[in-house]
Amino acid sequence: MTAQIPADIAAVSDYEAFARERMTPSAWAYLSGGAADELTLADNQAAFQRVRLLNRVLGDLRGGHTRLQLCGLDLDYPILLAPVAYQKLAHADGELASALGASAMGAALVVSTQASVSLEDIARAAQTPLWFQLYIQPDREFTRELVWRAETVGYRALVVTVDAPVNGMRNREQRAAFALPDGVEAVNLRGMRSLPPSVAQPGSSPLFGSPLLASAPTWKDLEWLQSITRLPVLVKGVMNPLDAVRAVEHGVAGVVVSNHGGRTLDGLPATLDVLPAIAQAVQGRVPLLLDGGVRRGTDVFKALALGATAVMIGRPYVHGLATAGAAGVAHVLHLLRTELEVAMALTGCSTLTDIKASLVWR
Ligand code: FNR
Ligand code: LAC
Repeated sequence: MTAQIPADIAAVSDYEAFARERMTPSAWAYLSGGAADELTLADNQAAFQRVRLLNRVLGDLRGGHTRLQLCGLDLDYPILLAPVAYQKLAHADGELASALGASAMGAALVVSTQASVSLEDIARAAQTPLWFQLYIQPDREFTRELVWRAETVGYRALVVTVDAPVNGMRNREQRAAFALPDGVEAVNLRGMRSLPPSVAQPGSSPLFGSPLLASAPTWKDLEWLQSITRLPVLVKGVMNPLDAVRAVEHGVAGVVVSNHGGRTLDGLPATLDVLPAIAQAVQGRVPLLLDGGVRRGTDVFKALALGATAVMIGRPYVHGLATAGAAGVAHVLHLLRTELEVAMALTGCSTLTDIKASLVWR
């Protein structure tokens, strides 16, 4: 935890090269890769780069701030840490260091079901709000237990990831022969009943008919989940306005517009590109979060201008984590927050509600 922040880092993307040097090639393939040809991965960032802003001058900026309320949280600024599995691949302290970095900056952290540190230990280390990202497991009784554990130690919401009933085609991982090293595992899933192995017959379907798809969660499981928890339930991985509306009709507390950082279905559009249609469909009934490709405070600004209430970042904070542990995570948040405030000042926005679509150049 004593790692230092390299002196020549000025922007979040500067962390990437440092992180790569500090990780094994195989762990790097897991962290940085997307699915298949990585079209969606590339497009997430490209979409932000395609959008231009229009400034306003001489506005009164006194009393400005970036505070917001989100699903029962009072946050100082609209940037959360997305769930990223197996953070011990990036740093020996893994999610504990991320929790400390988030705490230093007062940011909320969404802890993955596949965290490499127990959700209880993370809760003990954190002095900042935590949400629990849930993968509904084939073993529903185990899932119920997991939810109960998260509630018991104070997680404040559940973020159900719905875009990955199966992994995407992770070709970059395959080419790098990625496998979890000793000492890195999904500790929160220990003791779970595993699925019976599928028995592949020549000529039979490789996936349909397998136990994995037979137990994939459906809207009914979302209802079940809502019935067993007191916590707000958000859904993560929505890209289609039809699904966003259906989620709202199911009474979710929020929708995370996400393509899993380009890791599931390659060929999905960029999240920023689908955001306006989803905002239009949802009509402000629930908050929208967006993740995928956020690398600048101006990206946060663009997402808010086009309908998001807040954003989450994934790889960027893990780059900070790999480079400088908790300090790196905190610094990434600090950089983005500062850049967002600069963008607001230069567009005449003194609060987040001033960030409007009219500040995006068309
Ligand atoms: C993820 N993501 C993810 N999402 C989730 O719901 N549960 C998880 O366990 C993981 N694990 C995970 C591991 C790694 C290495 C990455 C890069 C991503 C997706 C993550 O929450 C988020 O949607 C994306 O990372 C956002 O894109 P950016 O910010 O990485 O571009
Ligand atoms: C991933 C899974 C863990 O993206 O969500 O690697």
